[in-house]
Amino acid sequence: MVRFYLIILAVALCRASAQKLFPDNFKFGAATAAYQIEGAWDEDGKGINIWDTFTHTAGKIRDNSTGDVASDSYHKYKEDVAILKDLGVKLYRFSISWSRIMPDGRPYSINQADIDYYVNLVKELIENDIEPFVTLYHWDLPQYLEDLGGWLNPRIADYFGDYARVVYTALGPYVNYWVTINEPSTTCVLGYGQGILAPGKTLIGDGVYLCAQNSLKAHAKAYRIYETEFKPLTYFVVFGFLY
Ligand SMILES: *[C@@H]1O[C@H](CO)[C@@H](O)[C@H](O)[C@H]1NC(C)=O
Repeated sequence: MVRFYLIILAVALCRASAQKLFPDNFKFGAATAAYQIEGAWDEDGKGINIWDTFTHTAGKIRDNSTGDVASDSYHKYKEDVAILKDLGVKLYRFSISWSRIMPDGRPYSINQADIDYYVNLVKELIENDIEPFVTLYHWDLPQYLEDLGGWLNPRIADYFGDYARVVYTALGPYVNYWVTINEPSTTCVLGYGQGILAPGKTLIGDGVYLCAQNSLKAHAKAYRIYETEFKPLTYFVVFGFLY
């Protein structure tokens, strides 16, 4: 009888833990941001961005630390992918450094060396059975665009669209998941309102509002460019394959 009860208890425990399992199609992931991990802040033709400027300005960071080297993922990306594989994650979200592939933020001078870097990273992930999940913008605006007003300049939506198009062209064939702008409310409030994050503007009210409005327009622009210029191509390739 005792044994019988034990079996019932074991079955009940299994049921309880089964209910807490994630569904089969649930994908565990890990996430980073370019400035936080890449380092190599002035290598291979990368332009200066607002976080380079901010951390290099005395008094902005309490211990004067910078992302100049960070986790050195720019050089160690293969090691990092191996660590991701070891962790068992199936998705990796990372961001593209705008000023790395377009040093002044505009598409007139494209830095092919760093486009190659991201293509290699994506291929390394796919070869290791990890799906790339790409964030277009995680806070590191090219300094030249900031000098033109940054997220307060209504033209930022067009600049962002031009940039997105370059990234979609390079990585579109490999990437199924995209994030446009990471946490715009944080950068607008803390970057353009309270001055705690780059670019360190203290324009509470108007600055935050303009940043938010232009972020929404930039998101919409990048979304529509993907939808109209890149999604049909995906269908085309699928049909080409089927017939
Ligand atoms: C940071 O840099 C400033 C200016 O060079 C210096 O006065 C200060 O002592 C530094 N702080 C730390 C924690 O190193």
